[in-house]
Amino acid sequence: MTIEVRKSERAGAPAAADREFVKALGRRCVMSSVSPLRPASEANARAAFDRLCEIVEGQSHVTLIAQRDGERAGFLLLLDDLPDEVTLLPQAFVAYMAVEPDRRREGIAAALLAAAEDEARRRGAPYMALMVTDENEAARRLYERRGYLTERRLLCKPL
Ligand SMILES: CC(C)(COP(=O)(O)OP(=O)(O)OC[C@H]1O[C@@H](n2cnc3c(N)ncnc32)[C@H](O)[C@@H]1OP(=O)(O)O)[C@@H](O)C(=O)NCCC(=O)NCCS
Repeated sequence: MTIEVRKSERAGAPAAADREFVKALGRRCVMSSVSPLRPASEANARAAFDRLCEIVEGQSHVTLIAQRDGERAGFLLLLDDLPDEVTLLPQAFVAYMAVEPDRRREGIAAALLAAAEDEARRRGAPYMALMVTDENEAARRLYERRGYLTERRLLCKPL
């Protein structure tokens, strides 16, 4: 088994196929970002993912595609010029990542995250940040085991 992580080119047929892959896989995974505190329909969550893709595409970003034995298996959307909103210090930001359900626990997300960190360092970003839903145990462990610490908390109270 080989895992390869590559950057999606910005134009041409491969880029279009990568974009379709990102959209389709991302839309299938969105419910893992919905918190039980704020229930949402799958249609709304999918629309939110489409909006996220538009926001990412409108900013400086890199799309990383992971391939397992030559087949697309996961992606990571990296914003590389999104200053921290509190300090205005530069940071890179993982807007979203996902791995095909039948390809999980094979190290694909770990490979994507390592490649994103390398890319962010190359671009001079001193920090990498991201948001993760509290109940998303798989993603939380992935990040925590790779040195990500809780910096702020998003509080929510159902009214
Ligand atoms: C989170 C996600 C990207 C992990 O992808 P993956 O390729 O299965 O992760 P990896 O195989 O690289 O695992 C790396 C580490 O993450 C943690 N991890 C991954 N899946 C886990 C699970 N189901 N339960 C507990 N820990 C898990 C482990 O620490 C694991 O290391 P280990 O296998 O050595 O114990 C994947 O589950 C996914 O696509 N989820 C849906 C989308 C999502 O939640 N995206 C994150 C948004 S913030």
